[in-house]
Amino acid sequence: MALKDRINDLLGQVNQMKAANADELEALRIKYLSKKGEITALFNDFRTVAPEEKRELGQLLNQLRQQAENRINEMREQFAEKAAEADKLDLTRTPDPIELGTRHPLSLVKEEIIDIFSRIGFTVAEGPEVEDDKHVYGMLNFAPEHPARDMQDTFFVEKEIGIQKPTDILLRSHTSSVQTRVMTSQKPPIRVLCPGRVYRNEAISARAHCFFHQVEGLYIDKNVSYADLREALLYFSKEMFGPETKIRLRPSYFPFTEPSAEMDISCDLCGGKGCSFCKGTGWVEILGCGMVDPNVLEACGIDSKVYSGFAFGMGVERITNLKYRVKDLRLFSENDVRFLRQFESC
Ligand code: PHE
Repeated sequence: MALKDRINDLLGQVNQMKAANADELEALRIKYLSKKGEITALFNDFRTVAPEEKRELGQLLNQLRQQAENRINEMREQFAEKAAEADKLDLTRTPDPIELGTRHPLSLVKEEIIDIFSRIGFTVAEGPEVEDDKHVYGMLNFAPEHPARDMQDTFFVEKEIGIQKPTDILLRSHTSSVQTRVMTSQKPPIRVLCPGRVYRNEAISARAHCFFHQVEGLYIDKNVSYADLREALLYFSKEMFGPETKIRLRPSYFPFTEPSAEMDISCDLCGGKGCSFCKGTGWVEILGCGMVDPNVLEACGIDSKVYSGFAFGMGVERITNLKYRVKDLRLFSENDVRFLRQFESC
């Protein structure tokens, strides 16, 4: 190859030179610029070039060497900079403390409720928040057009999202809808807890919100009695609020249970003597419950002559208020870290 072509060839190579580290860079320098390097070799050959070509080829050769040196120096500087930066890293420094988050009080209490009931054989079942009328009301013995649907201040999902029969789709107003789903898909014995968020069309204030959280429970088997319901709820209340806790069941009404009751626990602030918290009664209400209405069992395909069951439902916010005395319900959904940090992470 003519000297000129060899110079051009090397010029091409020099422009493409790349090194990943200082060792590779040194190898390049040796390859091209050392005493036995390829560029140095061209200088040796230059001596034999005809005088009329010396000027042009001499310039080209110098340019080649210059370019190779520049490129190698440039890369050397880059490596030096990187090494200096790495030197600045103080690997012995104590790391910044990692800030641990805290669990939301509603999650803590929900988990505690689940934990207590799981010790007597209850497992968790979940279902959709956007539900149909059938699962929230129809199968739970709410007659069509029954005003009880209003009792729960339902949010209906509008046509806009393309649903044909708008009033059939709604935001569940209780997690009893999960119970209907469980009853239609599983055979007794059934022992489930249904935790989750529910929605009701209420004006937002310190005492009410348009959404809140429930844990409902359902137990269906042969020979389940009202005494079983009472014992399960007494066990729960003592575990949750302390061994001295007493319970009281007051007759009430729910379309899906018969008989139905509301349950109070003895006020743990005044020990039942009566204070402003329990409005002087010594009792505070914590949940609704009852024996599953045979109509509900039948609507879900369970033989009410063979099986019976009890159900209960409680608001997690309510229980949390009793445990932690949170005065304003809105604090639970505002995500103010000054509030949330008060709850231990565990
Ligand atoms: N579903 C009822 C409510 O949301 C609570 C409840 C559940 C009452 C089960 C009785 C039995 O108000």
